[in-house]
Amino acid sequence: MGKRSGLEPFAEYACAGADLLALKPANATFEESAAVPLAAITALQGLPKGQIRPGQRVLVNGASGGVGSFAVQIAKSFGTEVTAVCSRQNLDNARSMGADHVIDYTQEDFTRNRLRYDLILAVNGHHPILGYRRTLNSTGICVVLGGSVAQIVQSLLFGPLISRTGSRKIGFMGIAKPNQKDLLLIKDLLEAGSIKPMIDRLYPLSDTAEAILALEEGHARGKLAIAG
Ligand SMILES: NC(=O)c1ccc[n+]([C@@H]2O[C@H](COP(=O)([O-])OP(=O)(O)OC[C@H]3O[C@@H](n4cnc5c(N)ncnc54)[C@H](OP(=O)(O)O)[C@@H]3O)[C@@H](O)[C@H]2O)c1
Repeated sequence: MGKRSGLEPFAEYACAGADLLALKPANATFEESAAVPLAAITALQGLPKGQIRPGQRVLVNGASGGVGSFAVQIAKSFGTEVTAVCSRQNLDNARSMGADHVIDYTQEDFTRNRLRYDLILAVNGHHPILGYRRTLNSTGICVVLGGSVAQIVQSLLFGPLISRTGSRKIGFMGIAKPNQKDLLLIKDLLEAGSIKPMIDRLYPLSDTAEAILALEEGHARGKLAIAG
């Protein structure tokens, strides 16, 4: 085997530090388990630690993709009231993941209705940062996890300013940090049935290029998985 760059994500065998691993959940297939770590840990780390309380109103923008589908389920597991924003074709899916309310982003701009949220997870799509600010309640928090470059850049540039000058907080979460503690927490949630990976399509390893092209179209429903 040649020198590893650390960027070889698709292989039948791969090496990783023991401190980044956890046993496969008993009730998940290998493919489901493989679909979990980065997306679920990103969703988990997007939830501000120690500040989530049952009954809070949480909105997930981009609720139907890899990260968003876990964000909805993890937020629900904390006892919050979740609104999922996705396109029409994914509304039923979002409900099946436990979302209390759904908004079709092709029909309604949630930053322009009068509803306010304690926490917004901006996972996908784009809204101007002032739109997110307007949609938070007076002490609300908006965490930008991803989405358009403009959305991320605005959160990096203006998030700190908005957060310093008022009681609402907005910021980019940074890059998710894989670690065993969070992985074990996710494993517990999986084994308790609180979260379940949503696999849109399973590809054989030989069709990896096709899977990447499908992912790049930006409309995966949950995760695309590669089987060895
Ligand atoms: N911070 C980090 O460490 C970290 C880690 C992983 C990923 N990310 C970022 O997080 C984002 C999401 O990643 P992902 O893997 O979940 O992506 P993904 O699975 O490819 O997202 C696909 C989903 O996005 C939805 N979507 C597309 N346009 C949308 C819009 N305008 N509004 C709302 N939803 C929209 C699609 O729904 P429809 O088909 O219904 O349109 C689809 O279900 C990306 O920007 C990624 O770069 C960040």
